[in-house]
Amino acid sequence: MGASMLRNTATGYGLVSIAFHWAMVALILSLFALGLYMTGLPQTDPGTFALYQLHKSLGFTILALVAVRLLWRLSSPAPQLPSGMAMWERAGAHASHFVLYLLMFAIPLSGWLMVSASPWGIPTVLYGVLPVPHLPVPSLLGAKPAAEATMKSVHEILAWSVIVLATFHAAAAIKHHLVTRDDTLRRMISTRPARKETSRA
Ligand code: HEM
Ligand code: HEM
Repeated sequence: MGASMLRNTATGYGLVSIAFHWAMVALILSLFALGLYMTGLPQTDPGTFALYQLHKSLGFTILALVAVRLLWRLSSPAPQLPSGMAMWERAGAHASHFVLYLLMFAIPLSGWLMVSASPWGIPTVLYGVLPVPHLPVPSLLGAKPAAEATMKSVHEILAWSVIVLATFHAAAAIKHHLVTRDDTLRRMISTRPARKETSRA
């Protein structure tokens, strides 16, 4: 397997970007479902504590992954958008990718701030082994219980935002595939479009 399959090219995504994309889609959707499920349980449910710990562990995993993913994105630029896209479509694609990256950072960070502001001071120990310190809570958020409530709402709104935006994003990908009939979806699934460039060169 050549190095060209790992990196993005002008015509398609390499294996690393593809793996990051779909691993994070799976993690984000699971974590969204887990968040709704665990917050819907009665507070006395004996499984709640473990589920919250799991949610935090997976959430920090996303935060670590998106940081590495962003570094990779900066070192291996995304392929060019297909030709024939209108200006507003190009702007929309770039803006939504940017905001999706932003949300992948902001959601776990808001969760981290929320648990840091909790007056209960429950420790976060990732997967039961790696302790994570609490963040300093900005004083503009007020006293601890108020700050925790604010961050809870922020976390919930941001989590719903990524779902809504990703739904439009997925709809755009499917439109490219079925209506425009270009490589947009195919190149996020396979490295074959990325190799077109090398075969042409
Ligand atoms: C991309 C990552 C994450 C996603 C998609 C996500 C999603 C969610 C969702 C949908 C809820 C339910 C919101 C509600 O209806 O009240 C929730 C709750 C929660 N999340 Fe996350 N979360 C993520 C990361 C994190 C992280 C990193 C932490 C902590 C370090 C965290 C801590 C919490 C806590 C403590 C709650 C419960 C809030 C409550 O008691 O109402 N989350 N999350
Ligand atoms: C939580 C859900 C999702 C998130 C956060 C997300 C995020 C992203 C991001 C940030 C990019 C830009 C990648 C880069 O250039 O570094 C991207 C590209 C892409 N995503 Fe998603 N995505 C999600 C779900 C989906 C789904 C469900 C589909 C398909 C049905 C999809 C299809 C694509 C395609 C085809 C591209 C490549 C676009 C292009 O070639 O310019 N994504 N996604």
